[in-house]
Amino acid sequence: MKQVLATVLSNQEIMPGVHLIQAEAPDITAEARPGQFLMVRCGQDYEFILRRPFSIHQANTETGQISLLFAIVGRGTTWLSQLKKNDKVDLLGPLGNGFSLEPEAKNLLLIAGGVGIAPLIFLSQQALTQGKSVTLLLGAPTAEQLYPKHLIPEGTNYLITTEDGSAGKKGLVTDLLPEFIHWCHQICACGPVAMCQRLQAQKQLQKKKLFVQLSLEVRLGCGIGICYGCSLETRHGQKQVCSDGPIFELDEILWDEVKI
Ligand SMILES: Cc1cc2nc3c(=O)[nH]c(=O)nc-3n(C[C@H](O)[C@H](O)[C@H](O)COP(=O)(O)OP(=O)(O)OC[C@H]3O[C@@H](n4cnc5c(N)ncnc54)[C@H](O)[C@@H]3O)c2cc1C
Ligand code: FES
Repeated sequence: MKQVLATVLSNQEIMPGVHLIQAEAPDITAEARPGQFLMVRCGQDYEFILRRPFSIHQANTETGQISLLFAIVGRGTTWLSQLKKNDKVDLLGPLGNGFSLEPEAKNLLLIAGGVGIAPLIFLSQQALTQGKSVTLLLGAPTAEQLYPKHLIPEGTNYLITTEDGSAGKKGLVTDLLPEFIHWCHQICACGPVAMCQRLQAQKQLQKKKLFVQLSLEVRLGCGIGICYGCSLETRHGQKQVCSDGPIFELDEILWDEVKI
């Protein structure tokens, strides 16, 4: 884990209310793994006491560049959205466990709900490098809230759903799951709690006993395992989302205990 004052290289609104920020942070990219996150100090002069957590969207060890994809939902993300080229941003990370790709899993299914795509692009790149076949199911409420196609790593097979039918198949991203359940050997997902709960309710998933991992994006305090503000009861006892997670197996989560 490193704390760095990174230089912002670009900050673009790539979907309405969703920004992609790129920064130079070679010390962090050198260690980063898909599914890990950074705690970002938002605001000037300790304006907000708590750092905000964001998944590592991409990390390039050759260029030392790191990117975050975030939705503007409150004060911290509003401040972050206003950063300009050459501004400095204080990053702490990489933190958390990250996804673990099963060596024998040749076909990987990724399921992203909205900005839940954030940790899955880096994961797709890693899986493709390992020679896996990757299919990404991407869902959003409307076409304009879909992650741009040109940013999806080349070689990733992808299908889209929108709730209003303005692009791809009309419906929820989890509606596509039955088509892929017999193809895939492992599933990694990130999205709203409702999406994860729908995944858990899929009877076919339970029958096939697939290894399903997901990123749990609950509210964090310190982000480094000290405050116990992110404690979660699981089937394997109490865990801290920030230090034991944020990647958990779907089956170990007691959904009634998850508080966003
Ligand atoms: C491990 C991890 C990785 C994350 N990765 C990403 C990411 O890649 N991209 C991204 O956009 N967001 C991500 N989040 C969520 C992100 O941290 C919050 O959206 C952010 O902290 C909100 O900060 P704020 O100051 O703008 O909002 P606040 O002013 O703190 O809150 C504004 C509103 O947002 C809600 N909110 C705050 N935190 C969360 C949360 N964790 N989940 C859902 N709603 C929340 C609050 O309930 C409130 O309604 C991640 C969270 C975790 C724990
Ligand atoms: S957020 Fe402090 S222990 Fe996890």
